[in-house]
Amino acid sequence: ATESEEKDLVIIGGGVAGYVAAIKAGQEGLKVACIEKRGTLGGTCLNVGCIPSKSLLNNSHLYHQILHDSKHRGIEVGDVKLNLAQLMKAKEQSVSGLTKGVEFLLKKNGVEYIKGAGAFADEHTINVKLNDGGETSVKGKNILIATGSEVTPFPGLEIDEKRVISSTGAIALEKVPEKMLVIGGGIIGLEMASVWSRLGAQVTVIEFLDQIGGPGMDLEVAKSIQKILKKQGINFKTGTKVVSGDKTGETVKLEVDSAKGGKPETLEGDVVLVAIGRRPYTEGLGLESIGLEKDERGRVIIDSEYRTKIPHIRCVGDVTFGPMLAHKAEEEAVAVVEYIKKGYGHVNYGCIPSVMYTFPEVAWVGQSEQELKKAGVPYRVGTFPFSANSRAKTNLDTEGMVKMIADPETDRILGVHIIGPNAGEMIAEGTLALEYGASSEDIARTCHAHPTLAEAFKEAAMATHSKAIHF
Ligand code: FAD
Ligand code: NAI
Repeated sequence: ATESEEKDLVIIGGGVAGYVAAIKAGQEGLKVACIEKRGTLGGTCLNVGCIPSKSLLNNSHLYHQILHDSKHRGIEVGDVKLNLAQLMKAKEQSVSGLTKGVEFLLKKNGVEYIKGAGAFADEHTINVKLNDGGETSVKGKNILIATGSEVTPFPGLEIDEKRVISSTGAIALEKVPEKMLVIGGGIIGLEMASVWSRLGAQVTVIEFLDQIGGPGMDLEVAKSIQKILKKQGINFKTGTKVVSGDKTGETVKLEVDSAKGGKPETLEGDVVLVAIGRRPYTEGLGLESIGLEKDERGRVIIDSEYRTKIPHIRCVGDVTFGPMLAHKAEEEAVAVVEYIKKGYGHVNYGCIPSVMYTFPEVAWVGQSEQELKKAGVPYRVGTFPFSANSRAKTNLDTEGMVKMIADPETDRILGVHIIGPNAGEMIAEGTLALEYGASSEDIARTCHAHPTLAEAFKEAAMATHSKAIHF
């Protein structure tokens, strides 16, 4: 085995958390190595998560729109055909462009990129099984664990990525299934249900809770998007638990039970997507060998400065606490390097936006009504529907609304919840407002260009402390 010079920082994992930390540390003048075993950089997000899923969401939406939403716009098309192989190629092109881009950025910032699987040899040394064969080891004054997450399996139903799939199989199916069952109506479930239903599959989503959208989505918003998705052809069984699965027959069978104790039922599909959450990934890392601890959910335990109990070993991203989101991993990556280099850093966990990229999109930041109710915090709400927004009307895309929640005394914004075609972009304004402690009146008195969807944001702010003009 060879050994390279000692680094200021050795990063295990080249996902969003790891590669962003590597670039930032390079920019700060640290000597950095980043170890990644996948063969490409960018982790779950770039390779099998955010990016490929959004490519499929975008292009399946175009296909569906051309088929079902073009004639009344004055666009008549001839024979519309799906070329699934080409759709997948377009996806792969986006992925490879971005992962190569990240590799270039590491090089540009002087980061040594080691292709292989890392494991702790001791508190300062990482052994690496190289992808090309052989081994090496690298020493670091500081070590960063950024090994991400993996799908939570469904007990008794083994994922083969063909008939029983995780999101990784769901972004790579070779043909459109006739019947698809989705276990879990969280973000992955709903995004992938949208893709395959638009492409022609009959999709049923089975969700244990009474609301879809996973944890954090405002209840009113969740109900509203469920109605919209149902109209698009997705079937829902909420308040229903999948108890067991069986893939020995020609179809995959799921036993489901009403969460409230109704009659058990058997559902059948050609393909079953398991989307019941993700769990931290630390396999083969050798955490035990240096005495590092995980909590009951497998998350690496850290303090507020991302330090494990061995202070020069820190940890960020999906493998530790907080929402499993790429932009959260990115914020933490910058903050952890600042802690290492300067001794201080900052992430505002109350201000991390969430976006579900269905059509229309759902986006939110801050607190939901049910969270505030539960905490006994008083609030007032202002809403503005896109059906009253001139741009949405012009675009003939009027479903959805902006909902703002503010403190009744100080008018400070506590949460913003949007359903709308552009919600994922619009939420940036809400996030900025929250980050700066804006009041709804601050937003209402800010000039917004006309005609834009963002005017709905301004009018919702007006409705929060006074009255909207156009509704
Ligand atoms: P990861 O991206 O999982 O990266 C960890 C990396 O570490 C992996 O590449 C892994 O190979 C490597 N690794 C692990 N162990 C070792 C080892 N011992 N040695 C070397 N390398 C190792 N988030 C969003 O914000 N927006 C979205 O739209 C979005 N869409 C998603 C869609 C899907 C289908 C999925 C599954 C996730 C999505 N996410 C999205 C979540 C997002 O992908 C994650 O939050 C993000 O990737 C977390 O980054 P990370 O660096 O912590 O972990
Ligand atoms: P999730 O936690 O969002 O949703 C899982 C859902 O499955 C929950 O609603 C849960 O009640 C349900 N469930 C669990 N067991 C069940 C059972 N036996 N029967 C029926 N329902 C059951 O997890 P998901 O969708 O797998 O996503 C994982 C992570 O990936 C999320 O935390 C999310 O942050 C991230 N992600 C983010 C995206 C985005 O930002 N657009 C896109 C995709 C993933």
